[in-house]
Amino acid sequence: MERNKKLHFLALALAVLSQAYAVREDGLYGYSLTGKPEKTEKGWRVALSRRGTASLYGNDIPQLVLDVEFQTEDRVRFKIYDPNNQRFEVPLKIESPPLAAADTSYDIEFVNDLSLRFKIIRKATGTVLWDTSLADLVFSQQYLRISTNVPSSSVYGFGEHQHPSFKHNMNHITYGMYSRDQSPKMNANLYGVHPFYMCIETDANAHGVLFLNANAQDVTLHPEPSLTFRTIGGVLDFYVFLGPTPENVIQQYTEAIGRPHLPPYWSLGYQLSRWGYPDIGAVEQVVKRMTEYGIPYDVQYGDIDYMDRKLDFTYDKEKYAGLPEFMQELKKDGLHYVIILDPFLSKDQARGAYQPYELGEQLGIWVKNSDGVTPAVGQALAPGNSVYPDYFNPKTADWWTQMCVQFHNVLPYDGIWLDMNEPSNFLDGQIPGCAHNNLNNPPYIPRISDSSLFQSTLCPDSKTFLGDLYDTHSLFGWSEAPPTFQAIKEATGKRPFVLSRSTFVGNGKYTAHWLGDNHALWEDMHTSIIGILEFNLFGIPQVGADICGFYYDTTFELCLRWTQLGAFYPLSRNHNAFGQKEQDPGVFGLEFATIARSTLQIRYSLLPYLYTLFFEAHAFGNTVARGLMHEFPADPQTHEIDTAFLWGSAFMIAPVLQEATRSVDVYFPEAPWFDYYTGDKVPESSHRKHVNINAPLEKIPLFIRGGYILPTQTPAVRTAKSRLNPFGLIVALDEQGQATGSLFWDDGDSADTVENGNYFYARYTYREGHLKTSIVNNNYRGVDSLIYDTVQILGVTSRPNAVVMNGKAIRRSDIHYQENGKLVVHLSVPLGEELDLILQ
Ligand code: NOJ
Repeated sequence: MERNKKLHFLALALAVLSQAYAVREDGLYGYSLTGKPEKTEKGWRVALSRRGTASLYGNDIPQLVLDVEFQTEDRVRFKIYDPNNQRFEVPLKIESPPLAAADTSYDIEFVNDLSLRFKIIRKATGTVLWDTSLADLVFSQQYLRISTNVPSSSVYGFGEHQHPSFKHNMNHITYGMYSRDQSPKMNANLYGVHPFYMCIETDANAHGVLFLNANAQDVTLHPEPSLTFRTIGGVLDFYVFLGPTPENVIQQYTEAIGRPHLPPYWSLGYQLSRWGYPDIGAVEQVVKRMTEYGIPYDVQYGDIDYMDRKLDFTYDKEKYAGLPEFMQELKKDGLHYVIILDPFLSKDQARGAYQPYELGEQLGIWVKNSDGVTPAVGQALAPGNSVYPDYFNPKTADWWTQMCVQFHNVLPYDGIWLDMNEPSNFLDGQIPGCAHNNLNNPPYIPRISDSSLFQSTLCPDSKTFLGDLYDTHSLFGWSEAPPTFQAIKEATGKRPFVLSRSTFVGNGKYTAHWLGDNHALWEDMHTSIIGILEFNLFGIPQVGADICGFYYDTTFELCLRWTQLGAFYPLSRNHNAFGQKEQDPGVFGLEFATIARSTLQIRYSLLPYLYTLFFEAHAFGNTVARGLMHEFPADPQTHEIDTAFLWGSAFMIAPVLQEATRSVDVYFPEAPWFDYYTGDKVPESSHRKHVNINAPLEKIPLFIRGGYILPTQTPAVRTAKSRLNPFGLIVALDEQGQATGSLFWDDGDSADTVENGNYFYARYTYREGHLKTSIVNNNYRGVDSLIYDTVQILGVTSRPNAVVMNGKAIRRSDIHYQENGKLVVHLSVPLGEELDLILQ
């Protein structure tokens, strides 16, 4: 039977049967249908009413509505809500088209037996992606629970957590989600909230599911395999993305929640930070060491040390005397400076001495106590007691923008680092503590650290512009992001760079993220890969962990291996905690510096490829860092791998993650692979196997996948310089002798270049010995002074007799062929010209 008819049939059949269930019967839980499912303009509507016995915490909502919207061909939304009372809904605008999509890759089905199931099915394969029993549904005032079966146990995502494997352990593991100032600790709820997962089905198709809910919540992963979601507020609002490839899932997900921003080019360079530079002299020393060793480096951060007594929008005129001039000097040298800001303002400064607070106080823009009038007062890094800006209030956003813009006249920063925005408070609740009530002490507390909603933060009964902090707590960092982004744009006139600790669904549109206060432990190096892959699923591809570890003193070897791995984080930043010994790459001496330099030179030479991936993330919603399973979902062995990862489709990074180890076991999925360093082809006998690869201290194993063309550029110590250097192409051939790739290029730091069309975009193809460029967009004149100077082709089967470039034979001395099939051709061709290179 055709699906639509079946749906209709089932819906009608259910309506008839539901009359029997509509009778309240003791011993029955959940909900049943009342009346007939109705067809709506957007999909289907089903009325639900509660059956019999009260749920665990009482206060059940008697009548509910389940709306199903066929939003796009590959996106279906279903929302279960109380039609009689408005409950909190996340203010993220996901476009809901007025009419149901005509053609969909999914069907829905109501099963009319005692279990009352609601299903979402992939039409092409019949796989049931979502399968929930309404008889199990709980929808009470402060406890909502829904479960679903999932079609396989290859489940990824949910955040933010540190956990031991990228593919989730489904053995009754529960993850709490509630933003918290919490140094990464296994399975604990950390800084951000991302109730999103991706599942790879047994036939290699993939789908994703967003639970758009911001209340404190948890999810349990069961071995059936199934999932149980529990939240203490809001509505049950789910979006299912049908893929069918993992990459399609994320494209569809970011289409809904907002595409990632295009980062400024300089922010892809290497970054140095620490908390606890005693004075400006210490920062100067770091810059000097980096310069002496010639280590690529683009960004220096100022942590709270630069501030006068940790007060936002000030700087320490003694220890950091001359900071504005120093920042100007750095700029001249091509460096960029990012300053930290905290989301609390000290209220205890002398009258007239601290304008940011006084202005905010006049405007009445702080988060309020439960009375909705007096400001909530906590204690954090700033001296004395502090108040918290309520960024949801448009007046607060204006005030923040104004403060940031004014401060730029004092300190000419290039980007802003948003810290402590969970929001963090060193007290449990604001002064004088949290009252005992149903918001601060709800009947069910999800599996979060210390089972408290107010530990290290404000009381949930505090008031924000959008309502109780009970609902908006985990959106605090999210609400801070857009005004900060806007402020930088206004202050600098350039493309913003914002690094945020707390994030929520959709943050990628405005911010990058780092994984927080990790430890200088080998284990944390491994879990950083998992975090990076997860944030790529969450649509925040510019992500990294503190290289060499934040807490604890690092060691020479750990820091060196971490610098090698970190050279391939999308966001490559070394950061260190107060009191720990120095760990910038210049501090360990010549051997370390030499290795750091050569590894970062590889990063810098591949930045055109990385930048193109970021453009594709911004324009099409692609991921930047990917797990092997993402590219090879049909190979179940890849589902488990989280010790190696890819940049895009084409570049594999296989770091050493253990002490005193000089080799790595690398798994090679079925594809041609070339050693990045030598161009040697990985033998076919190694495919689908773990192979032990030599990795002496100076080397991180890197591989290029056949079938792809990667744009490169001669590296330099700053991106400002490398951006002027000649380009190259690495053409890695597949079994058919073919490859494709692309290059995005613009001025690197103007705002909205993509939106305004001010960029250059070229596609490359190689087949039958013929490399061709087609220029798709040629609207950035900066390319006129740039050239290609090398084309490297990997996997060439025999030495060519000649190489002809745009009709002219290339001199033999400019052609180098190696027996391993690597051909290097030197040339000089303008970047803006279409290449036409033929091997004869
Ligand atoms: C906590 C942040 O996570 C860390 O990176 C920073 O160094 C300290 N706050 C001090 O600002």
